[in-house]
Amino acid sequence: MDIEQFRYADDNLGYLVYTAKQGIAIDAGNPEAISGFARDRGIEIKYVTNTHSHQDHTFGNRMLLKKTRAAGALFLDCRSLDQGQVIELDGGQGLEVMLTPGHTADSVCFKGPGFVVTGDTLFNATVGNCFSGDLEGFYRSLKQLMALPGETLVYAGHDYVEESLAVAESIEPENSDIQVYRDTYSREPVVSCMADELKVNPYLRFNAPSMIRRLEERGMPRETGSQRFASLMEIY
Ligand SMILES: [Fe+2]
Repeated sequence: MDIEQFRYADDNLGYLVYTAKQGIAIDAGNPEAISGFARDRGIEIKYVTNTHSHQDHTFGNRMLLKKTRAAGALFLDCRSLDQGQVIELDGGQGLEVMLTPGHTADSVCFKGPGFVVTGDTLFNATVGNCFSGDLEGFYRSLKQLMALPGETLVYAGHDYVEESLAVAESIEPENSDIQVYRDTYSREPVVSCMADELKVNPYLRFNAPSMIRRLEERGMPRETGSQRFASLMEIY
């Protein structure tokens, strides 16, 4: 099982996850490129789905479904997916659904072998806005992602890396891992690994002593991980 990243609308990132014969399009904002890539390799796009229902991620669905009409790709509404559900492709390979509410109530991530597609839940070096208002849910969703093996590759819904690293540096100027991350993360495709996120992503660093000290200095709630996460989201 492999994954190809498709950039569109400047910083948006969509994906085709595929096996030898079949694929799942996720956030197909670039339907021409995705269908061309699949056609060139003889891959049948079996499913079209999204990481959440924000329009900048869903607007390509209709066009891609139209392009796959002959083979009849199936649209999987992210709001109808279940935790742990496996979306199967040929050869018994599949993508596992993780329900990750927070950015929106309907946000999901898709876990494949060695990678995860995170939409606007987790970006490389930052996290999404909590538009759902459910910070506790967002915290639990991020904890789910943080529990994945360190080598898991993180494929996000936008490329915000440069500006996010600048923010991370302004929060933790003494964190030398940020410069290492900047020098080594992959730009083509845009991807990092979970272990590196834990080292530099300020919103995942609610257990780092340096962050707890910052919250202490500001008199912010910091008893539990969830409180510290909420405090970091509030300040930064
Ligand atoms: Fe979004």
